[in-house]
Parts: sequence; structure tokens; C-alpha cells
Amino acid sequence: MKQSGLHVAIIMDGNGRWATQRGRPRAVGHRAGADSVRRVVEAAPGLGITTLTLYAFSSDNWARPPLEVQALFQLFRRYLKREPAELAQSGVRLSIIGRRDRLPDDVRRLIALAERRTAAGSRLHLRVAIDYSARDAIVAAAARARRERGTAPTREVFARWLGEAMNCTEPAPDVDLLIRTGGEQRLSDFLLWECAYAELVFTRTMWPDFSAAELAEAVGEFQGRERRFGRVAG
Ligand code: FPP
Repeated sequence: MKQSGLHVAIIMDGNGRWATQRGRPRAVGHRAGADSVRRVVEAAPGLGITTLTLYAFSSDNWARPPLEVQALFQLFRRYLKREPAELAQSGVRLSIIGRRDRLPDDVRRLIALAERRTAAGSRLHLRVAIDYSARDAIVAAAARARRERGTAPTREVFARWLGEAMNCTEPAPDVDLLIRTGGEQRLSDFLLWECAYAELVFTRTMWPDFSAAELAEAVGEFQGRERRFGRVAG
């Protein structure tokens, strides 16, 4: 799917270490991370970003200590309650992608409400991934191929099915730039298909310290790269 602006995806890593370095509980890092989310969402449209996908909770994150999972879901609740008015005002459409069947009922309701309230936004499509697994999406799309056709689908159809397996109500363009904060250099089951030709930027900055300026720097680095999509230069 073509669009005029950039699709930037971010693996927001380092909240826990940021807090530990300050002698605080990990949940404090997640809270500070939610402030970074606000900063980045505000800065994105000015940098030519039209789709922003943030990895907030992977399907493997259920294995974290229950208290940490609870703290994260409290933050998601607060975000879903408080932010939609502001998001709608600034033309941001919010979608939550990922599995819905394991989310608490009240969170599911808040998601539906937030998505409805921001549905008219056209400056930025903000996709927040909660209980997301790219591998599970691939398995689900493969199962659907077998059910529906018995023959291999096209790339376009398969991409749509991948999205639908993770509740993306509309197909998103492939990722142009993937940023991971926190110093690790891996994809951690995030948008594996959609990142086929993404440029990757890794930074040691912990997510709570990630600023609009650093987002601009990453976009600048992306713009300086030559994207060949498997072809030769020139
Ligand atoms: C990874 O850092 C971060 C997460 C698993 C949670 C991401 C959540 C937020 C940024 C806050 C809330 C988000 C929204 C949308 C309101 P980590 O805990 O793995 O850090 P570590 O690697 O230092 O332990």
C-alpha cells in the first residue's frame, strides 16, 4: 500500500533499566515511557510521519511478573481514557493492533471507545501494539490460506490477512523506518513481514529519555540512506 508520508515503527525498550538505574521500581520507568509516547506522537506529523506503530506489549510480555503486567495495563487504561480527546483534536487516529481475546473486558471497551472517538483523524495514524506477535499473525494467515483457498495467496492478500489476524482494521503500508531504543539490536517478533525493507536505527537511549529531537535525528538518518529494495544502485 502506497502513502505519501513515512511509516515509522518503534520498539520502545529500556523503561525497566531506566528506572533501575535510578533506584526506582520498573513501573516508574513505564510511566516515564508513557510521557515519551506523548512527545513522539506530537512530533511525528511535523517530521513527515503519517503512520506510527508503537510496540507497547508483546505476546511474550505476558510472561513478566504479574505486578508488572498489571502496572502496564493500568497505564494503557489511563492512556485510553485520557488521550483520545487530545488525539482527536490534533487529527490523530488511534488504532490498537494485536490480539483482543486475552485483554481484560474493560480494556477492550476502552479501546473500542478510543478508536471511535479518534476515527476521523487524518494527520497521523497512531497504531499501538498490545498483545502483538508477528509470528502468530503469520501462523494465523497461513491457516486462513488453507481454509479459504487451498492455494497460496498473493503477497498483497497475505499482507492483509496478517493485518487482520492482529485486528488491523485497514491495511497499513510497509514500515519505512524501524527504531529500537535501549541498546538491543533485534526485532523481538514485531512486524516481521512489514519490515522486509525497513531501514533499522538502533539507539542506546532508554525509551523514557527518547526525545522529539532524537526522533528527528533518526528520520534524518533514514533520509540519508539509499533504499534499493533488492535492486542495484542508481
Ligand atoms: C520495554 O522496556 C517496554 C515495554 C515492555 C512497555 C512499553 C510501554 C510503554 C512505553 C508505556 C506505556 C505505553 C503506552 C502506549 C501508554 P523494558 O521494560 O523491557 O525495559 P528493560 O529492557 O530495560 O527491562
